[in-house]
Amino acid sequence: ATAEKAGFDHFMLKEIHEQPKAYRDTMGSRLSPDGSRVVLKELTMTEQQIRDIRNVHIVACGTAYHAGLIGKTVIEQLARIPVETDVASEYRYRSPIITPNTLVIVVSQSGETADTLAALREAKRCGAHVLAITNVVGSSVAREADDVLFTWAGPEIAVASTKAYTTQLVAFYLFGLHLAQVLGTKDEAFIRDMIAAMKSLPEQVEAILGQSEAIKAAAEDMSKHDDLFFIGRGVDYAVSLEGSLKLKEISYIHSEAYAAGELKHGTLALIEENVPVIALATQEDLLEKTVSNIKEVTARGGKVLGITSERYAQELAKSVNTVFTIPQTHALLTPALAVIPLQLLAYYASLARGNDVDKPRNLAKSVTVE
Ligand code: G6P
Repeated sequence: ATAEKAGFDHFMLKEIHEQPKAYRDTMGSRLSPDGSRVVLKELTMTEQQIRDIRNVHIVACGTAYHAGLIGKTVIEQLARIPVETDVASEYRYRSPIITPNTLVIVVSQSGETADTLAALREAKRCGAHVLAITNVVGSSVAREADDVLFTWAGPEIAVASTKAYTTQLVAFYLFGLHLAQVLGTKDEAFIRDMIAAMKSLPEQVEAILGQSEAIKAAAEDMSKHDDLFFIGRGVDYAVSLEGSLKLKEISYIHSEAYAAGELKHGTLALIEENVPVIALATQEDLLEKTVSNIKEVTARGGKVLGITSERYAQELAKSVNTVFTIPQTHALLTPALAVIPLQLLAYYASLARGNDVDKPRNLAKSVTVE
């Protein structure tokens, strides 16, 4: 079994460490050799079909849904098309407005999740074009969608998803840039810069993994608590949701993720002496606002672990107890790095609590009931 795990103690840790390779494989031949363009040869969708898209619905469950929340920001920022992201088990029952000019993107690691598959079928019935982002070739979702972007993460064994999520983010970056190229919503220089930043992600993940010991120490500390909070704004909020889910799934520590500005509208009542709060602040334009939310927490005795990009580390250090720094990248790409320390945090907290990391209680890798 250790051989299967390539020397790692658990599949989850192995899969966390496979992310640099997974990033390279997912980007692979989809970036032109001169780094100027994204080339998605596998898509059947024509340029005219793309110009006709009026709205996008992203539908998924669990971790894939969290990737879809980032996908919304990515597509809206890059292509200026309105996007809604829905949990698949809710989507069909809210009579969503699906027209032939709606692009429905279903996201699923396994490609077999019952609710996601049902959403896909409903979207097709309404005449929408369906794009699947999935990891499994030959899966139901891959077979039934009109178009597929495979994530090429390789088999994911641990129930808690890591490399499947991060490669789903990469798929959204690639697709968002593809839309921007067709629609002319971003100029060549922007596209070139973002592609260059994407190419640096694998080595930047390596750099984060090299700091695992620091995260392990923080995780051991957190494993002694029964409740904790994650806060962030914008994409940092979406990453917070994923960090919180990861922690709950395998450490069984109760946690909640809040949009940082929303904390004071109720949840701040739960912040008292020594309550751990993980604050993500990777976005320059939101830094000041997030810092004021962090101060609301520290003023009540909460202990804050801040996660930020290199450029803002000094600034953030003034208002938090501990700072963990991720390498500097393009503003839209920070989730692809910021989630790594959160995966490690969940892993080490689970380990410290003596849980079965790869097979958490009550959970299944693939859920085929609605
Ligand atoms: C299960 C897994 C989650 C996963 C979700 C969606 O609940 O435990 O980790 O995010 O299903 O799975 P999918 O294969 O559709 O991405």
